[in-house]
Amino acid sequence: MTDRRTRGRFLTFEGIDGAGKSTHIAACVESLRARGIDALRTREPGGSPLAERLRELLLTEPMSLDTELLLVFAARRDHLEKVIEPALAAGRWVVCDRFTDSTWAYQGGGRGGSAQRIAWLERWVQGGLQPDRSYLFDLPAEQAAQRRAAARSADRFEREDLAFFERVRAAYLERAAADPRRFVVVDAAMPIDAVSKLLEEDLIKL
Ligand code: TYD
Repeated sequence: MTDRRTRGRFLTFEGIDGAGKSTHIAACVESLRARGIDALRTREPGGSPLAERLRELLLTEPMSLDTELLLVFAARRDHLEKVIEPALAAGRWVVCDRFTDSTWAYQGGGRGGSAQRIAWLERWVQGGLQPDRSYLFDLPAEQAAQRRAAARSADRFEREDLAFFERVRAAYLERAAADPRRFVVVDAAMPIDAVSKLLEEDLIKL
């Protein structure tokens, strides 16, 4: 078993599509590396060769909610085994674009999936593993939709309507309220510089 003191930290970035987390993920990784921390950037769904293939299916193929939920967790299992767990055990910090809070928000809040099933799959696939810190980029669904409109073609999730994204947002905020020690809720309507400053200050604390 790895000594807790040598184990890396696990940071995740969350939020509805269009909230603008990507820019800040890159900055976070750079900031950690500048401090001499060996940081690995990864994403979900995906992050390992097998999980990236599942991602392609998840973002393009029509499927039932149950299939979607099982594929998301199958991808996560492979990603954990092949990438996240070995990195943390080796003392590296892992910065992940989305993780299980996305499942609670999209498959749970957005699609109305059963909380009991998500909790059960989470326990099975992750054991007790949870991120050490999760940054939730919060933005009203309408503003996020405007930001997305300027971006590239939409995937299967991004084509959902405003009501779907309002439910996703509400589920995220509920998760954050239930675990205030892990979550930092970022007002994504703030200017980029203000968000960067806030994240930088929090990283110093970690
Ligand atoms: P995202 O990571 O935002 O990629 P991009 O920036 O390339 O659009 O998109 C992945 C999509 O997958 C996003 O719409 C949310 C969805 N998703 C789920 O529905 N459940 C999950 O558990 C995860 C990790 C993602």
